[in-house]
Amino acid sequence: MNDEHPASLAGRRIVVGVSGSIAAYKAVLVVRRLLEAGAIVDVAMTPAAAAFVTPLTFASLTHRPVVSDVLALDGDQQIAHIELAEAADAILLAPATANLLAELAAGLVPDAVTAIACASRAPVLVAPAMDAGMWTHPATQRNVAALRDYGYIVIEPEVGELASGLTGIGRLADPVHIVEAVERRFARSGDLEGVRVVVSAGGTREPIDPVRFIGNRSSGKMGAAIAEAARDRGASVTLVAGSMSVTPPRGVTVVEATTAAAMREAIIGAAPHADILVMAAAVADFAPVRPAKRKIKRDGSALNVELVPNPDIVAEVGEMPEDVRPFLIGFAAESDDLEANATGKLRDKGLDLIVGNVIGGPFDAIGSDENKVTVFGVEGPLTDWPMLPKRQVAERLWDLIVDRYRKARDGESPAPRGGRRSGG
Ligand code: CTP
Repeated sequence: MNDEHPASLAGRRIVVGVSGSIAAYKAVLVVRRLLEAGAIVDVAMTPAAAAFVTPLTFASLTHRPVVSDVLALDGDQQIAHIELAEAADAILLAPATANLLAELAAGLVPDAVTAIACASRAPVLVAPAMDAGMWTHPATQRNVAALRDYGYIVIEPEVGELASGLTGIGRLADPVHIVEAVERRFARSGDLEGVRVVVSAGGTREPIDPVRFIGNRSSGKMGAAIAEAARDRGASVTLVAGSMSVTPPRGVTVVEATTAAAMREAIIGAAPHADILVMAAAVADFAPVRPAKRKIKRDGSALNVELVPNPDIVAEVGEMPEDVRPFLIGFAAESDDLEANATGKLRDKGLDLIVGNVIGGPFDAIGSDENKVTVFGVEGPLTDWPMLPKRQVAERLWDLIVDRYRKARDGESPAPRGGRRSGG
């Protein structure tokens, strides 16, 4: 198993911006962990944050002055928040209130925390914490989407008991996860630089007539998160998009392919120019043999639609000659016997890795913002990950894929891949 991340914070300058949430006390734990990892930590606070935790707490921990006044000068008569903005290797906003997210999205700088985030060119990580209603409110979600567009990394809040006593989503991510996210930002930046990645996402829709289709419930969220994470790590990304309920991430080339035939054409065309193909799309297995040209009218009698099997796209890529075949990752959603079915597909389709998830149980990954997956290689299961937000699943997948891809490229493949060619 390989889901450890190298600690890489020694000597890094991290500015932690704390805003006024009851979760502000957890920022103390975050700061302590960052210090333990060797980071040089400066803390900035909004006035409301100082009502929850005193600046003295942070100053005592970090042995550095805390910036809470946007007009403050430091010892050399420099503007403190500008100094910090320039010196920071990363900025971590934890906890980030709904208000802070709104200010950052709008470019408002009423305090030292927003001023530092706005003035700096360093990567910004945001760990929101708020009431569930506030988090799910369209205004907050729009602000979070805007921050993602600016390139901010959002450390998703968790589901749990909230300050109100109610249980819901909005609780600040665990301080351990927050520090891991900061570490990953340094460990990873640019590890897909110059790598050409193709990701398919969403479901295909096979027309019965001009208005009706056979489709599936795939939302495309997992594939979109994989494409977005690859983009953030420096890859040039093509997203072959089936029917998706989420907007594709910015900064990736989107090729729309809503039928299996269109997706096949897009993937077979793109694969020889790609280094890595992640086939996350839910391709319909069957399509109506002859879609009606006109809308089928209801006349009281039964309707028979003859279906033909669709081509297996990823298997076709798996059979491409070695010099054009990209490193190949497939998905398997199974209701039973995950390991046997997933590894069977890995072999039959000639994949390097397969991402398996169980469907049909009490938890439904389809359309959810979270997923629990196990990655398999020919040698068996490679991971033991908990349920995670899909973006975090995507990051962990890339950690694993990058490692395996490099080894395969450098001729030290950890194990022969699946594939009909190898007779496996
Ligand atoms: N896939 C594909 N082309 C198809 C069907 C599936 O490329 N016509 C890909 C999917 O994108 C996924 C993998 O194959 O990466 C496994 O998909 P899945 O639907 O689980 O596999 P099937 O071979 O269709 O098997 P099942 O009978 O379980 O549906």
